[in-house]
Parts: sequence; structure tokens; C-alpha cells
Amino acid sequence: MKINASLIAAIYATQSQLSSIDNHLLLPSSVLHQQQWGAQELSICGNVAGASAQSSQHSRLGHRIITAKPRQSSVKVGKGLIPILEHVAKEGKAVDLQDLFQRFTFDSTCILVTGYDPGCLSIEFPEVPFSKALEDAEESIFYRHVVPERVWKLQRWLGIGEEKKMKKAKETLDRIVFEYIQKKREELSKGIQEKEEAEDVDLLTSYMSEDCKAVGLKFVDKLLRDTILSFMLAGRDTTSSALTWFFWLVSKNPQVETKILEELEMIIPADKMAAKWWKFDSKELNKLVYLHGALCEALRLYPPVPFQHKVPIVPDILPSGHHLVPNNKILFSLYAMGRMKSIWGDDCLEFKPQRWISEKGRIKHEPSYKFLAFNAGPRTCLGKEVAFTQMKAVAAAIIHNYNVQVVEGQRHSPNVSIILHMSSGLKMRVLNRWAE
Ligand code: HEM
Repeated sequence: MKINASLIAAIYATQSQLSSIDNHLLLPSSVLHQQQWGAQELSICGNVAGASAQSSQHSRLGHRIITAKPRQSSVKVGKGLIPILEHVAKEGKAVDLQDLFQRFTFDSTCILVTGYDPGCLSIEFPEVPFSKALEDAEESIFYRHVVPERVWKLQRWLGIGEEKKMKKAKETLDRIVFEYIQKKREELSKGIQEKEEAEDVDLLTSYMSEDCKAVGLKFVDKLLRDTILSFMLAGRDTTSSALTWFFWLVSKNPQVETKILEELEMIIPADKMAAKWWKFDSKELNKLVYLHGALCEALRLYPPVPFQHKVPIVPDILPSGHHLVPNNKILFSLYAMGRMKSIWGDDCLEFKPQRWISEKGRIKHEPSYKFLAFNAGPRTCLGKEVAFTQMKAVAAAIIHNYNVQVVEGQRHSPNVSIILHMSSGLKMRVLNRWAE
């Protein structure tokens, strides 16, 4: 399927049955999280009713917990991504970067959220049931958006079609996530986690520990499961989608690659330049202004969450003057907004990282209601900082150390889904820049 006109219509309202949603895996990853806290407790349309005290405490806790853990990203780049790229480069094979990035972000997010590494990112390219089940669930969730509600509900009742897949995925996810929770409970009771560094404490540990009780939150297993799945869905495919489109855009714009390379060389300590091969640490990554701009530009043109929808729980009026009543569904396209002349100017279709750099050479901040890739307002993405850390760690390591070239003859179009994947992946050849 191609992105169609209805999807890229900037904003419109339609009747919604959203309030009758009763399954914890129903909404796209972008809104899934909100629904999981209970339709009674949380508004889907954050700006209309705001979040409950519990949810805002959750947000604060979540934000504190997932505020960039740069060491984890660097470790996964060094021990997971680089060995695979080395292997692929030596073999002279092409690799699907989209698949590689999905594996990287799946493992990284799982470590961040549960503390366990599912081992997706390995030379054998294993099929990991947890990852496969999330993919199947995502597909079924999207399907629920495009067929009438009574159709998918009938399919669910009959146990056929996409709903059959969803049921199987849900069973797998339940099994794996409850195993993680049980394992963590045992570790906590034995005091194993206490020995770890604060930086390495995962989200699950924090939610199950005293830390959480201190801010007045109580997590039962089902809520823990939903929290884990929310973060997995929210963190995994978004970052890998952004990285895939970023590398594709860079390959189409060699002048941007040259500038990124120059910037990377500038931050390598002078006495280490002779080594050529370099793994950047978090302090170095924080200095990268041009790379930051290039990533923002990729997110603007190819927002990983291409559309969102919100539902007011009380009557409201939009800034445009449109009146809304409960059950109106507001669907807006981030993909369209990132390409509108009225928002980004005449050059809105060009990939221009310098758009994000101020006259003083610093990162130019755009208001979140203009640059919506991470959403805005009370439901802003909690993982924005983590995402930038991961993306910079991956982009810097690959661009500085490898020469990656797109394999000719592929079609690079977005597929229609709740996440803006590249429909057939991104096959690239990888050459080690520094190989003798
Ligand atoms: C480039 C990467 C990412 C993009 C573009 C992105 C985008 C978004 C967007 C658009 C939303 C709002 C969805 C809505 O309200 O409809 C969101 C929410 C969220 N994101 Fe991200 N995200 C990214 C990475 C991550 C990562 C790495 C994590 C965590 C590991 C994460 C965790 C979350 C969570 C927990 C929420 C729900 C926030 C709330 O409702 O309180 N995201 N993200």
C-alpha cells in the first residue's frame, strides 16, 4: 500500500468508537501507552483533559528512569553492531540496515526496560519470538484501524484472520513478559539488583522497587506487563525507522555525509587521530551539532510515527475554531506537516541539516508543536533523549568507520503502518574505511 491522500490530509475529525476499546494491544504504539493506563484514568487527548495524578507521576518517574543512559547505547554499538558490520564487510555481503537497526533498538530497548538482553543483534540474525510477536501485534493493530470495528471484532470472536495472529502474538508476549517479571522479582528478593550501578538500573526494577512506592505508584503484574510492552513498542521501531531513513537520505546527499565526516573528525582528540578507527563516547556525541541537525531533518521528512489520533473526552474547540464533541476522532499527519510550505518554507522538501543550526553554530530549537515527531504537550515522548543518544551513537560509529553504499535497484517507499518503515528494507554494502 502507498501513503494515500486520506493519510496525508493534515487534519480532520471523524466519528470514533475508541472509547469501546478493551484490549491492551489495540492502539498504535504511539497511543497504546495512554490507553493502557485505563480509559477512565487517562484522556486520549492530553490537551483536553490532561493526565491523572497517577499518570503524571508515572511520566515523571519514567522520564527520570529513561533519561539518556548513554553508556548502554555505546556498549550495544561496540559489542553488537560493530562485530556484525565487520563480519558483513569482510564477507563483502549486502546487509539490510533496517533489519539491523530493528535488532539493535529491540535489544537496546529491552535492556533499558527490563534489564535483559534478548540477543536479537547477532551474526546469526536469529528470529526472536518476543520481537516477532511485537511485529505481528503491530500489524494487527494497524489492521484494526483500516477495517470497520465490527469486522475485526467478529474476526476476534471467530478467531480468524489478523485477529488469530493477534491472539497468538498476545499469548507469546504475555508468556515472555511475565517470565521477565518473575525473574526480576526473584532477583530483587535475592538482592542481586542492588549491586548494580545507578546508571544501569532498568525501568522494571525501578517500578518494582521501593523507588516507585516512594512516589505513590503501585504496580501489579498486568500493569507491569503493559508498561513493558508500551515502552518496547514505543522505543523499538521508532528509533530504527528514523535511522533507516536517515542513512537513506545521507546516501542521496553525499555533501551531507562529507560534512558529518568533517564534524566527526573534529571531535576526535588530536593525539588519537592516527588510530583512524574510532568509537565515540557520550561526551563526544553531545558535541555533534551538524549530525543532530541531520537527524532532526530525517525525522521531519520521515517521522517514524507518521500519524496520530486523539479523542476529546469533553466538548472542546480547536484553535482553528472547529467544534469537537466526545467520540470525534482527530487524525493528524505528522508526515504531511513535515512537508508543508506554510510550516517549513519553500525548501520544505529538501534535506537540509543546516535548517537546524543557528547563526551562532548551535542547535536551533524548533517549537514541539511545529516539529511534532516526538509529539507535544503532556504526552511528549519520554524517550526523546534516549533516542537521540542511540541514533548519534549508531550514526557516528557507522559513518566514521564505514563506507555504506545503497544496493542499486531497490524501491525505497514508506509502507503504510503505525510506524513509517521502509517497505522493502534498505540493503547496503558496507566497506571498512580503514581496512588495509
Ligand atoms: C526517534 C525515536 C522516537 C520517536 C520519533 C518517538 C515518537 C513518539 C511520539 C510521537 C509519541 C507520542 C505518541 C502519542 O501521544 O500519540 C511518543 C510517546 C512515547 N515514547 Fe517515543 N519516540 C521515539 C523513541 C522512543 C524511545 C527510545 C522510547 C523509550 C525507550 C520512547 C518512549 C515513549 C513513551 C513511553 C511514550 C509515551 C509517553 C506518554 O504518553 O506519557 N520513545 N514517542
